[in-house]
Order: sequence, then structure tokens, then C-alpha cells
Amino acid sequence: MKDAIARLTAAFDTALVATFGEAWAGTDPLLAATNNPKFGDYQANAALSLAKGLGKPPRAIAEALAGAIAPTVADFCEAPTVAGPGFINFTLKADYLVAQLRTMRASDRLGVAPSAKPQRTIVDFSSPNIAKEMHVGHLRSTIIGDAIARILEFLGHDVLRLNHVGDWGTQFGMLIAHLQDTCPEALTTADALDIGDLVTFYQQAKRRFDEDEAFKARSREGVVGLQGGDPDSRRAWELLCEQSRREFQKIYDRLGVTLTERGESFYNPLLADTVEAIAASGLLVEDQGARCVFLEGFQNKDGNPLPLIVQKSDGGYNYATTDLAALRYRIGEDRAERIIYVTDAGQANHFTQVFQVAQRAGLVPPTVELVHVPFGLVQGEDGKKLKTRSGDTPKLRDLLDEAVARSRASLEQRLADEGREEPADFIDTVATTVGIAAVKYADLSQNRTSSYIFSYDKMLSLQGNTAPYLLYAYVRIQSISRKGSIDFAAEAIEDLPIALGDPLELALAKHLLKLDEILETIAEELLPNRLCEYLFDLSKKFNQFYDRCPVLQAEEPARSSRLLLCDLTARTLKLGLNLLGLTTLDRM
Ligand code: ARG
Repeated sequence: MKDAIARLTAAFDTALVATFGEAWAGTDPLLAATNNPKFGDYQANAALSLAKGLGKPPRAIAEALAGAIAPTVADFCEAPTVAGPGFINFTLKADYLVAQLRTMRASDRLGVAPSAKPQRTIVDFSSPNIAKEMHVGHLRSTIIGDAIARILEFLGHDVLRLNHVGDWGTQFGMLIAHLQDTCPEALTTADALDIGDLVTFYQQAKRRFDEDEAFKARSREGVVGLQGGDPDSRRAWELLCEQSRREFQKIYDRLGVTLTERGESFYNPLLADTVEAIAASGLLVEDQGARCVFLEGFQNKDGNPLPLIVQKSDGGYNYATTDLAALRYRIGEDRAERIIYVTDAGQANHFTQVFQVAQRAGLVPPTVELVHVPFGLVQGEDGKKLKTRSGDTPKLRDLLDEAVARSRASLEQRLADEGREEPADFIDTVATTVGIAAVKYADLSQNRTSSYIFSYDKMLSLQGNTAPYLLYAYVRIQSISRKGSIDFAAEAIEDLPIALGDPLELALAKHLLKLDEILETIAEELLPNRLCEYLFDLSKKFNQFYDRCPVLQAEEPARSSRLLLCDLTARTLKLGLNLLGLTTLDRM
């Protein structure tokens, strides 16, 4: 209800100025949703903080303001009341809510206005490393980054989804040397490369690197060759990247995630220049041959200052240099106004240092916002790092397969229990959709900063804050429309009187109308779990309403009012779940 919030804020300001003078204009009313409907819908808490400046008791201030606000808000809000030490409570009028519901219904965006200040935004997410495992950390980054990108896109921001893949670095030396030994034909014949599992390939190369001095030397040559643009090394590198890319793409396709790949190597030509730009700002210090920036507050384990190295003593560049070059490019060429990095919390220091260096070196105009979006670990049910039964790190493919297999098993069980027969393609679609949705939702519904326990049983449960529970609420509404042969969209509800007689109807209606506020907050705070909470609450409120209020059997105007609530709930669930990257089903 951004509309109500804006109007209450303006009314508060006018009343404050009229009562206490111009000096108080623009004071934040500290407006918040009440946590108990008994106190109305919103409350303004500013009287408490104004007490000192005004030299009056908060309650007296609140009473004066409530009186002055009442006439300006009378068209949409009951006369405000004062509670406790000086909270001003507002209750929205029923006709206003009905009018807002009608607006929501008529809008294909469910009344959510696009942002008044659309920003060119980069979301840097997923970003696995070539020839290495795309692990659960990358899965989290992919799921969270995609949800953030979807929400910002929906709000009208111009989003560039970048996959900053680790496609450069000294590890390519040993990979190239190993490829030359094991699969030389790949370098000369098109499509001859089939090294199967790249991760095993990586491990083999690594073992040789550690054990065989001659191989190690050749690996070094491989790096030099690659950096020097030697065509054979370059071709080997491209083949390795291509092979990884194909594997990554399979995961992205299953998850329904799109990304533009722009790996670390893209920025190679810009690294030297970036270091010079930092040098020109006077920040660079030479330390044991390396070029570094010392920042206050960063120390190593022994308490010594910990610099950010931007050029190593051998002249080479590193992860941080690449991020600094990427920043410059993203600001200068991509014209980004907001850059969001989605990685595990372990990289928090890296980003703090990179952002500070970039800012102090004048590479970031003050109008550009840089945000690191950190997330916690994925743990096994034992609370330790997630592992397979044999003790390995699980492959993402296997993890998704298992989720789908279990979702299939529980679906088949349910169908058997209900004595239902369904065609194979129905079972396939439902099992896959629910399995993938469960994995994504389990991740998104946690506050991303905390670690979470990966539990198939929990994520696939039909009870609680899970994907199946929300998908099921949606299905329930679709079955109302099937049962009553009703096409919600076509029903001429617009012109019928709407009455929200039951408190459960009212609670549901108010919750629906909060969608725009919630999305706005998420766009600022970048916490998708807020949307999960909102949708979970919505499903609970809908289920309570539906258990008590008959829809198809009701008399008018209750029937139309309830159909309206059903329609809006279904559409809000569908939109919200889509913004989280989940697909809804009509039946399950
Ligand atoms: N490749 C890195 C990793 O696997 C993540 C890259 C994140 N993005 C960035 N611009 N540094 O940890």
C-alpha cells in the first residue's frame, strides 16, 4: 500500500508543520505496519523522538498531530487514535481498500508501479570456475542472484546479469599440458574433445602437477604460452572453457536461469591500465616487490597490516585486479549505477577491500552503489558441510536429480493414497517442477546471511514454509475455478459491489495490498526471503479464509468479493513465485 503510506506521510508532514512550525518539515514520521490489527494498519512513532526537540510529552504531541491529520486523511482513513506513550494509529477505510483491490485486479502488474528511478543495474552472480566443480555455493549464488535480478527487472530496472566465470589463472597451465598429453587430437580436429568429467580431469592434472617436476615445468610454459597468445595454448584453453560452459549450461537450463558470460579473461587487456590508474591516485605501495594498497582496519592473523595486492612481485595480476578492472569497465562502458555481487560470505573482505580501493582511487563516482550480497553455507543434516554418503562434495546435477526423484516418489505415493490415476507426462512435469522449486525455495526462504541445512524431507514437505505448500495453495485456487467452471479473469467482478464482511477476508485483502511495499523493500535490501515470507503468509491467510468462507456457494455480494480475493491471491502467488524463479502448476 505504497499509496496509503505516501498519503499518510504527506499528511503527517503538513500537520507537523501546521502545528509546530516550518522547522520540522520533512521529519520522518517513522511509519510502520502495526503488528496487531487491533491497533489499525499503520502506526507513526515519530512523536516519541520529537518529544525532546519540541520539549513536550510525546503523548501530547501525538494527540495534537492526530487531531490535525484527521481531516486531511478522512477520505481514506478513519480518524487516527493515539495509543501507548504516543503512537499514532491509522486504520484504512473499507471503501478505500476495495478501491485499491479493484485497481490491483485491473492491472496486469497487480498494481505494482515500476520504479520512478529505474537504474542500470549489474547483478554479478553464479560465476563458477572453469574446469572446477560448480558447487553448492555457486548454486546458492545462482538461485539468489536470479531471484534478485528477476525482482529488479520486474520493478523496471535495466539489469545486466553477468556470469563472472573464473576462466583465467595459473591452473590453466597444468590443464593445457594435461590436455596435450591425453587428448592431442582435440587440438587439431574439430569436436574431438571428450574428456568426460572435467572435474576428474582437473584432479588428474593436479596430481601430475604435484608429483611430476617435468610436468610442472611444462605447465609453467603453458601459462606463459597462454598469456603470450600462443595459438596452441589458446586453442586448448578455449576447448576447456567450451567443455565447462556446456556443463554449466545444463544446470542453468534445468534451473531456468539466464546469464551473460563475461569471464575474468575478458578483463585481461584492461589490467595494466587499471593498476596504473590506481598508481596515479597515489595509493600504491611497493611491498616485497608486489604493488599493494594498505587500508586501515585490515590485518592478518598476526595483527600485521594486510594489504590488497593488485600486482604480484612476478608482475602477474590476481582476482582483485580483475575485479577492479571489471568495476571500471562496468561503470565506464556498461554505465552501471548499481553493481550487486552475489557470493558466499567468505568473500566479504575481498569486496570491502576492492570497493574501498576503487572508491579511494576515484574509480567509482559517488552516484554508483556497490553492494556485496553475501550468503551463508549449505550444510548437511548433521550441521556439517554438505557431503554425499561416500563423503564427497555432491555434484549439483546429482543434487537436483535426487530432489526430483524424491518429489516423484512422494507424488506417486500421494496419488496412490488418493486413488488417482494420472498420465506419465503429468507425473514428470509435476515431479520436476516441484523438485526444482523445492531446492530453490529452501534456499531463498532462509535469510541468506545465515547458513542453512539442506534437507530433502523438509523442502519437499507439503506443510510449512516450503515450495510445495505455496504451489498447493495456488493449485487449490485453480481447482475452485475448475469446479465452478469460472474463468476468474473473465468474471465481471469490476462492476459488482464488493463487501469484505469477514475478518479473514479483510486480513487477506490487506495482505494482498502490501505486495508493492514488500517488493520495494526487497529491491533496497536484496533479501528474497522477505518475498518468501510474504507469500507464505498469503497462502496461510488464503487457506484460513477458504476454510471458513464458502466461495462458489456464497450469495452475492459475498460471492463476487470472494472470487475477487481468489483471483488476486492466485495472481499474486504466481507473480511472486515467478519472481523467485519458481513455476506454478494448475494441478499437482
Ligand atoms: N569465481 C568466483 C568463485 O567461484 C566468484 C566470482 C564472483 N564475482 C566477482 N566479480 N568476483 O568464488
